[in-house]
Amino acid sequence: MDGNGRWAQQRRRPRMIGHRAGARAVNRSIDFCLERGVGALTLFAFSSENWGRPQDEVDSLMKLFLGALDREVDELHRRGVRVRFIGDRSRFAASIAQRMDKAEQRTAGNTAMTLSIAASYGGRQDIAAAARALAEQVAAGTLLPEQIDEQALGQHVALADMPPPDLFIRTGGDTRISNFLLWQLAYSELWFTDVLWPDVDAAVLQQALDDYAGRERRFGLTSAQIAANAAPSTHS
Ligand code: FPP
Repeated sequence: MDGNGRWAQQRRRPRMIGHRAGARAVNRSIDFCLERGVGALTLFAFSSENWGRPQDEVDSLMKLFLGALDREVDELHRRGVRVRFIGDRSRFAASIAQRMDKAEQRTAGNTAMTLSIAASYGGRQDIAAAARALAEQVAAGTLLPEQIDEQALGQHVALADMPPPDLFIRTGGDTRISNFLLWQLAYSELWFTDVLWPDVDAAVLQQALDDYAGRERRFGLTSAQIAANAAPSTHS
């Protein structure tokens, strides 16, 4: 969700005005996904690197985050959204971490959509934590080193219980992944737009879906193989 700061700058307003407009774009995006039947939406709200921003911006973002949690969770629950957080929760103030836990517990049984919010999240940190979990099992004697493979590691990264993302959207003009779901995005389709995050609306998101719909996902196979697998079977 990139471009909040520049959106504010263009209007000669403080960066936080951009973040607040960004929070409204979050609501619009959730509405859009619910309307289109998108099963899972993962938002990169705050990276592990974002802790290094000026302290007043970090503090204000935490306040915004806390306010959004207090305001929106009831409504999300009412609409059947399961809310979860990925990232290093230990770095948040206890008041925020507790509200994250509560929001997760309250919405755990919802099935309309899973909204995952990456907060204090880093893709490398995610993979390192998974490697550490496996190393601990080896040290405890419950796992052999030769049992470590893609599947074993993949069971310990964030969102391991979810299908990998089909589509990655980055706003704000930069064409990088910036340490987002590095493991999980291996075969995701990437879509970039110059639109700044606070300006994202249904039309922009629809453009991303339309572009996605026209792509051929081969997962390392050939076009012919993909076509053969998709064709209806001629055997009864
Ligand atoms: C990146 O834009 C945005 C952030 C670091 C914060 C995102 C937070 C929100 C949208 C608000 C709250 C979110 C939730 C889920 C309640 P930037 O500041 O890097 O923009 P710039 O590149 O233009 O400076």
